[in-house]
Amino acid sequence: MKKDRSFWSARYRSQVGWTGELRRYALARCGLPKDVRLLDVGCGYGALLEALSADGYTHLAGADIDLPSLSEIPGSNIRTCADGLNLPFASGCFDACLCHFFLLWVADPLAALREMKRVARPGGCLLALAEPDYGARVDEPPELKLLGELQTQALQRQGANPLIGARLPDLYRQAGLSIIESGILGQGVPDPAQEWQVLAADLQGRLSQAELDRWRELDVAAWKSGSRILHVPVHYAIGKIPL
Ligand SMILES: C[S@@+](CC[C@H](N)C(=O)[O-])C[C@H]1O[C@@H](n2cnc3c(N)ncnc32)[C@H](O)[C@@H]1O
Repeated sequence: MKKDRSFWSARYRSQVGWTGELRRYALARCGLPKDVRLLDVGCGYGALLEALSADGYTHLAGADIDLPSLSEIPGSNIRTCADGLNLPFASGCFDACLCHFFLLWVADPLAALREMKRVARPGGCLLALAEPDYGARVDEPPELKLLGELQTQALQRQGANPLIGARLPDLYRQAGLSIIESGILGQGVPDPAQEWQVLAADLQGRLSQAELDRWRELDVAAWKSGSRILHVPVHYAIGKIPL
């Protein structure tokens, strides 16, 4: 993933904003009080940790493989530079593990879920709050469909699994987690400029500047005329670690 820190940090914050309602619902659904020990795996710049702290959760930890992202998070006691496939925590030492736009980026998502299950206590929870399924995306008008397909291919070339969202229930089952609930999130109103920046970042190096400019013109015109739809279903799963 290319890093323009201030842009991505703002993007992650806005995503955490639109998944906030689900986060609060999922934590309540698991019956987790504010003093539970929570681990955010693939925490990036800490947008989710920040939101959890603002919600009143007091025992927070974050792990990410990327040290520069972690250095943005205040409070060195809550962040650990670690591979989500091999977390440096004792078994059962958290009440719940969460992740947010993480499983699509990890090389082996099933192993990552098993590792989160290991560090959460039996009876604890595992919340995959947001994982996309670009395979079911909707692009309108029809001439922008190819742009969407190009972005999906670009993500695959970056090593991501952009179709992972729809696989969450199956991955949970394979990891031996009991599913409490899984589903697809509502996404609120898109910010056309931010969506374009994400598209352009994903397509950088894949399309010439002239091609990108042409797509941009079509995209801007479609938003302006009110005909643009850019919808990527984002899935969630709430699960329990069996006793
Ligand atoms: C799209 S970002 C999401 C960041 C954060 N969860 C959020 O939503 O704000 C994905 C994050 O996963 C991290 N990541 C990818 N593979 C990882 C791994 N094997 N172990 C830990 N973190 C990983 C990346 O470094 C990146 O920070």
